[in-house]
Amino acid sequence: MAFTSQRPGEPTPPISDAHRGPTGVLEVPQRFLMGPGPANAEPRILNAQSLPLLGHMHPPFLKIMDEVQQGLRYLFQTDSKYTLCASGTGHSGMEMAIANLLEPGEKILVGNNGIWGTRVADMAGRFGAEVVELKTEAGTSFSLDTLTAAVEKEKPAVLFLCQGESSTGVHQTLAGVGDLCRKHNVLLLVDTVCSLGGVPLYADAWKVDAIYSGSQKCLSAPPGAAPLMLNDRALEKVRARKTKVRSYYFDLNLVGDYWGWFNSRSYHHTGMTSMWYAMREALAIVAEQGLESMWERHEAAHKQLWEGLSALGLQPFVEKPEDRLVTVNTIKVPEGIDWAAVSKNAMDKFNVEIAGGLGPTAGKIWRVGLMGYNAKPANVELVLAAFKDGLRQQGWELAAN
Ligand SMILES: Cc1ncc(COP(=O)(O)O)c(C=O)c1O
Repeated sequence: MAFTSQRPGEPTPPISDAHRGPTGVLEVPQRFLMGPGPANAEPRILNAQSLPLLGHMHPPFLKIMDEVQQGLRYLFQTDSKYTLCASGTGHSGMEMAIANLLEPGEKILVGNNGIWGTRVADMAGRFGAEVVELKTEAGTSFSLDTLTAAVEKEKPAVLFLCQGESSTGVHQTLAGVGDLCRKHNVLLLVDTVCSLGGVPLYADAWKVDAIYSGSQKCLSAPPGAAPLMLNDRALEKVRARKTKVRSYYFDLNLVGDYWGWFNSRSYHHTGMTSMWYAMREALAIVAEQGLESMWERHEAAHKQLWEGLSALGLQPFVEKPEDRLVTVNTIKVPEGIDWAAVSKNAMDKFNVEIAGGLGPTAGKIWRVGLMGYNAKPANVELVLAAFKDGLRQQGWELAAN
């Protein structure tokens, strides 16, 4: 057959079958994703993704985007107009925040107590910022005194903190940090990828200027959306930039316009239709359950997990109870135990994902995520059964049987 792309008389090259495929209907195994994320998604959210596609500028779709923004205001506990989802995973929120809030040569003070601080420092450097890292040992958080001294010394434009450091299982308290930042005219940027919806966060009351998060953890949606908010101070900074945002895709002056921030609505990039359906549904579930009950459910799952782990003789990696993150739990690997064999047994025999450490904690800990749809008693029991079995196989003396 001759195609219109061919010139008359041109010979047709043979189609190569060397890489033909895949074929057949996709099948995947059912697993309990009890690592640091993604968590299993709510079936209702996955169902929403199979709804018919709408055009990305069609009024019914714009209404769904409005609903997402409204749901995010509740989730972030903010009255700010400036909420949206970045198109991409948590990293897209991270990159969007950094690309927009910092101009080349401006200073960012990065609270680095794990992999996410390291990554923000790397990213900010790529956007031409001057990066100063404030470090603390893995498994610990920053005290307000430490942060105050660093802010007073460095006088940064932006302070970055990670509320839930998933590589170490540390919860960074934000108490007093917002006031500190206001006093020194610093913008406070917080990563909540593995904490939003699982632990308390009050963007306005705590004076947090910019926040990004991820869809696939406590919000029980698949990966692909990064909830983001800026307050008026942060937006003013973006609007008053002297230089263009170096990333076109993540320029909030443009993306914000598509989300209706500036009272118009223009095409920037094709809206993530099915992903925004998922986020609309995820946020409806948040609104129906209520934040307090979500936080309580996550806390209860964490308590249940640690009762069981303690009975097995296992210890938390994070020394101070007040620093322990309830959504991503880090467990010390005891001397002589092969952590990878325990994780492998959990997957092979129980279909349960139990992750190892990451960055500073690689080989030293296990990580158990109790997030969103997975933060429930039956899942915790399954994790405990998998630990018990895996440890027994290695001759671990269980503290209680
Ligand atoms: C605290 C934190 N920040 C950022 C990220 C990056 O998110 P993503 O992998 O969705 O890009 C993660 C992912 O695990 C995380 O836990």
